[in-house]
Amino acid sequence: MSALTESPAWRALQAHRREIDALHLRELFAQDAGRGQRLSLEAADIRLDYSRQRLTDRSLDLLLDLARSRQVEAGIAAMFAGDTINPTENRAALHVALRNFGADGRPEWPLAVQGRPVMDDIAAVLARLQAFSEAVRGGRWRGYSERPIRDVVNIGIGGSDLGPRLVCEALAPPAGSGLRAHFVANVDPDELDRVLAGLKPASTLFIVTSKTFTTAETLANARAARAWLLESFGDEQAVARHFVAVTTNLDAAATFGIPTESCFGFWDWVGGRYSLWSAVGLSIALALGMDAFRELLAGAHAMDRHFRDAPLAQNLPVLLALLGIWNVNFLSLPTQVVVPYSQVLRHFPGWLQQLEMESNGKAVDRDGNPVDYATAPVVWGDVGTNAQHAFFQLLHQGPQPQPVDFILPLSGRHDERERQRVANCLAQAEALMRGKTAGEVRAELTARGLAGVELETAIPHRVFPGNRPSSLLLMPELSPATLGALLALYEHKVYVQSLVWNICAFDQWGVELGKQLAGRMQAGLDGPADADLPALLERLRAAG
Ligand code: F6P
Repeated sequence: MSALTESPAWRALQAHRREIDALHLRELFAQDAGRGQRLSLEAADIRLDYSRQRLTDRSLDLLLDLARSRQVEAGIAAMFAGDTINPTENRAALHVALRNFGADGRPEWPLAVQGRPVMDDIAAVLARLQAFSEAVRGGRWRGYSERPIRDVVNIGIGGSDLGPRLVCEALAPPAGSGLRAHFVANVDPDELDRVLAGLKPASTLFIVTSKTFTTAETLANARAARAWLLESFGDEQAVARHFVAVTTNLDAAATFGIPTESCFGFWDWVGGRYSLWSAVGLSIALALGMDAFRELLAGAHAMDRHFRDAPLAQNLPVLLALLGIWNVNFLSLPTQVVVPYSQVLRHFPGWLQQLEMESNGKAVDRDGNPVDYATAPVVWGDVGTNAQHAFFQLLHQGPQPQPVDFILPLSGRHDERERQRVANCLAQAEALMRGKTAGEVRAELTARGLAGVELETAIPHRVFPGNRPSSLLLMPELSPATLGALLALYEHKVYVQSLVWNICAFDQWGVELGKQLAGRMQAGLDGPADADLPALLERLRAAG
């Protein structure tokens, strides 16, 4: 048994879970008219309604006890102090510094990494991002043939893709205005080829975004993009006018052919999946403008301030983390569905998958001991309303409940489709919570004239168990600020969970083995026969 599962706080939660096992959410709402109002919390313009989670006030108290017993407050302070909270890579994880600017645009807190102040460096990179993005957007920074840039292609993968891709899609200006942003992550040539098919080399700028500048997929795509450019211009000089890099590895970028003056740097204390706030957000600044990028940072900073300062019981990221822990560890629900009721948030589930599963998909604790409790849930989802017509059947009537986070940004529109969008989201949360009993089904069908065997055979298929947990995250609008706050909320949720689970949230050793083996297999495909290669590979080689 681990110290966590043996702890009094953990055991108290297990005992409590058994006590409330028979309670149905329908009853909890019936007993407490104010539940919906009471079990909600707002910060940085994000309102979390967690009244449809399967818990009581006592559950919350016990979860907060657990957080206290795991020194969550000290863990939060350690993050803002720039401590080495990424011990297996011997680094801080200080992405909060990247957005640490007050309303006057100046750094709010004097943040430092291991005693070294970082805010001047961050401000300097932001100033460069501003100058460059304004020059490109204003048509002053031109391509090799002096044509203004119209299209920007971010080449990167994982954290060097998902965040900027999500933000650019979510906040895209109306078609026809400004620069168009494109994203290429997959080494499958179809992605780059399809993007390039619609572009002209003379007006295209590539951003090679890679923290390490060693990621094989990104470098292969960057080489292919360079070849495409040179096919058109036939002069290596053109590369400098059409390629910039975002990286912490300036030497590798230079070796690739992107000079240091065309590179935007960041630091090893920024994790890849936490990097969209750094120069990795260059595509955002180019596509949406620097004002929007700064508003995004400001929204995230508002959430950071709340996270740093709010007491645990009123702390939104802490609460979201504890709800997840309750579902995963005590209700034994190993998944987390996320459904944004917003088409432009269609990349949110993918971004969240990396954030949660790459951060907390760990089976050993900080000291290297195997854990005896579940950690990160399997995160999945898609946009509503579409998902209702795809996988919601399973959410409502599948044998295994799947907790859902509904994300609902309001829009200020009041037309029929808007009312339907909002109503659909609220109705799904209600249906999951309430369900429909056999008695209700019987009454409904009887009123429609069904009777006898026909009625009895119909009933079981139309019963909804309900009692299925969900949270609703409501935003007054989808703006750079509210989006920034939403992303920061989930970042901090993941960190808090890692504190409770005593795991390292900021490394990702689990992605290494596949990379090593792929390197060997690729060499096998290219080179002489290798007796150790799988038979399938030999067949591929023969076919090639
Ligand atoms: O392989 C996983 C990973 O290292 C992610 O953590 C990261 O976001 C992604 O690859 C891309 O890495 P880089 O920015 O160094 O190319």
